Amino acid sequence: MESTELFLRTIGAGTDIVSKEMFTFTDRGNRSMTLRPEGTAPVIRAAVEHGLIAPGSVLKVYYIATIYRYEHGQKGRYREHQQTGVEALGSGDPAIDAEVIHLAIEFYRLLGIDNAELQLNSVGCPECRPAFLNALVRYAEPRLDAMSADNQRRFRENPLRMLDSKDPRDQAILQEAPTVLDHLCPACRDHSDRLQEYLRALAIAYTLKPTLVRGLDYYTRTAFEIVSPLLGSQNAIGGGGRYDGLVEQCGGPPTPGIGFGIGTERVLMVLEQLGIPLPIEDERPDVFVAPLGEAARRAVVDLVASLRRKGMAVETDYLGRSLKAQLRTASKLGARWVAMVGEDELARNVVTLKDMEGSGQQVEIPVAELDGFLFRHRRTANGEQIPTPESEPAPESA
Ligand code: HAM
Repeated sequence: MESTELFLRTIGAGTDIVSKEMFTFTDRGNRSMTLRPEGTAPVIRAAVEHGLIAPGSVLKVYYIATIYRYEHGQKGRYREHQQTGVEALGSGDPAIDAEVIHLAIEFYRLLGIDNAELQLNSVGCPECRPAFLNALVRYAEPRLDAMSADNQRRFRENPLRMLDSKDPRDQAILQEAPTVLDHLCPACRDHSDRLQEYLRALAIAYTLKPTLVRGLDYYTRTAFEIVSPLLGSQNAIGGGGRYDGLVEQCGGPPTPGIGFGIGTERVLMVLEQLGIPLPIEDERPDVFVAPLGEAARRAVVDLVASLRRKGMAVETDYLGRSLKAQLRTASKLGARWVAMVGEDELARNVVTLKDMEGSGQQVEIPVAELDGFLFRHRRTANGEQIPTPESEPAPESA
């Protein structure tokens, strides 16, 4: 949650996010607050507030954050989603643009997504953008009647945003519109050219997309998006760009910056389409402690806690059920072992361990040796049983 003003100032009043997608409310102190509709401005706000930005050095941060946008829900477009993002503050060198883009591409590649497309543009800077906006306005004005109501509004409020329109009528008209790339000042032109050289040197394929302006006003120069051919209309699995004026807008020293945000849910959708399984942790219990009788139920509270303290995944019964019912539950949960504790075991300070995989054998073990035994017989990370070392003295059969 942030003060609403932060987003008005940085994302821009004429953007869709600010004009219709923010969850904004007044708090008890009569302040206007907003659930963050993106991660970058809050990160910069925090970095400035906590003095993390030191002139002459580069600050690199990452975040995994919940993002809220009041959007029309559809596949891949949610009112609450997760973004994994990075921001690099302090350098205006196009080499760091290349590094940041490379990092995003590597992230997807390591997950197994290698058919995504990198779309690249430059949105210029406050030096060259006015001339471009002039050209865009001159082009759009005589064609306004044929455009959507939304774009007529954007024309008046924030003409650059006309290029964000998803309306096919607008898109057809704007296809022929003047492009930012044709209006870049020499410094922005040079930045864009050098970035493209670095990308080629890193063997990162890209498509230049002159209409890519992204939905946020803070971008300068580099703007990029990564789209997957496996998704429908909401096909951007990540996006980012440079924002050389943002730190100053947030009250910090003049500091260039660049970053990206990756949409977790969309990445998961792509992985599912590709049939790539997630490395899921084995959630099955190492042991199900099955107490029989009132005294045992009381005694195992301590046993369960102490096994958990040692890092073991433990389940037990709190319903006072029969052994048969407990074994059924243990089996349903996929417990590797069941440690049965009845009156007899209590008296002798042992448990009767039932092997729930393989032999189904029962063995008796002193409580003091239980954790050691269970550790030696743990499943590996991928759920397989670690074979018992030869040296392991076989527990005596009960
Ligand atoms: P963004 O393009 O608005 O950029 O969002 C980044 C990514 O979040 C999108 O590419 C998409 O994968 C995902 N995403 C966005 N909206 C939704 C939604 N409603 N439902 C599901 N996924 C969604 C930013 O927010 C910038 N802060 C990124 C950035 C960081 N630029 C510089 N640094």
